[in-house]
Amino acid sequence: MELLCNAPPHASVPERYIFPPEKRAAMELDGVDGPDDGVTLPVVDLHRAALSGDEGLRQRVAAEIVRAGKEFGFFQVVNHGVDKDLVRGFRDAAAEFFTMPAEKKLPYCSNDQSKPFRLATSTTYDRGETRYWLDYLKLQCHPVSDELVQLWPNEPTSFRPRLTEFSEAVHELAQTLMRLIAEGLGLSAGFFAGDFSGGETQMNVNYYPPCPDPRLTLGLLPHCDRHLLTVLSQGDVAGLQARHNGRWLLVRPVPGAFVINFGHQMEIITNGALASVEHRAVTNSAVTRMSVATLIMPKMECRIGPAPEMVDEATNRAKFREFVFSEFMEAYYTASASREDVLESFM
Ligand code: SIN
Ligand code: FE2
Repeated sequence: MELLCNAPPHASVPERYIFPPEKRAAMELDGVDGPDDGVTLPVVDLHRAALSGDEGLRQRVAAEIVRAGKEFGFFQVVNHGVDKDLVRGFRDAAAEFFTMPAEKKLPYCSNDQSKPFRLATSTTYDRGETRYWLDYLKLQCHPVSDELVQLWPNEPTSFRPRLTEFSEAVHELAQTLMRLIAEGLGLSAGFFAGDFSGGETQMNVNYYPPCPDPRLTLGLLPHCDRHLLTVLSQGDVAGLQARHNGRWLLVRPVPGAFVINFGHQMEIITNGALASVEHRAVTNSAVTRMSVATLIMPKMECRIGPAPEMVDEATNRAKFREFVFSEFMEAYYTASASREDVLESFM
């Protein structure tokens, strides 16, 4: 496997990474399509310390989250209670993994999607020939057990302990967010806590080395997430863009923040109130960018469908049918045309 992270710096973009003009990012990293009209993603202060005690504050935060979620499908959270050293600890360990010599990583390289830990490069989600400018780790990260930890690399030696603590902390943040989202939607606080979020949590660590000409390439294709909720650490380097009112909105890095967005299952359960919004990653020529996405999944056997509380026969009919989550995943992996059409087959 030809990893970008082990390639000597490229003087120019190799042919196989060059997208046809209509698929390119077509804009400078710092802008949106056309002039930036000052729209920025909401940054929600979770007031972590106050959340347990202050009922009024908690309700305001919950309302703010749902407002941001409904308008953008994306928002950032600060003051979230995840220790910044712990975030840095895992980010450093992961970056160290990518920069190890190729032969040390060889045992982990695989395109077998069923593997609980694997390293790969240049996904072609769209089944086209052009490669995206990234390497990535896909791994199962929660619930943490001795057996699971054994599947993670033991080099660098910090990898297992740092991932263990990062995974636990992010999972706790995800639980807090799901309680707030439920409260903001008028659902019971524990609404998402059971099977809706109880599947094996996946993590994608995306690694984008500097690209000699970002105008020709993409880091990650435009896509919607398919699970329930994504908790993303994008670090200090910009590159994530979210679709908003038909344009690409840059998700500006906020120190220490996590970026939150919804997957298709959240969109279905909330009957469209919290939509899964299209996003992509662009490359840059200056520095390596690394993002760490934690994907909260329903249990495979979980029944999914619009929650009765989110449906009204007269004014807001169910927009999706009921199904079992494994059915959705199957449809997603076997979709022959665009994977983004999969949602439609569940309407
Ligand atoms: C993602 O869609 O997984 C995140 C992309 C990124 O910010 O690198
Ligand atoms: Fe994504």
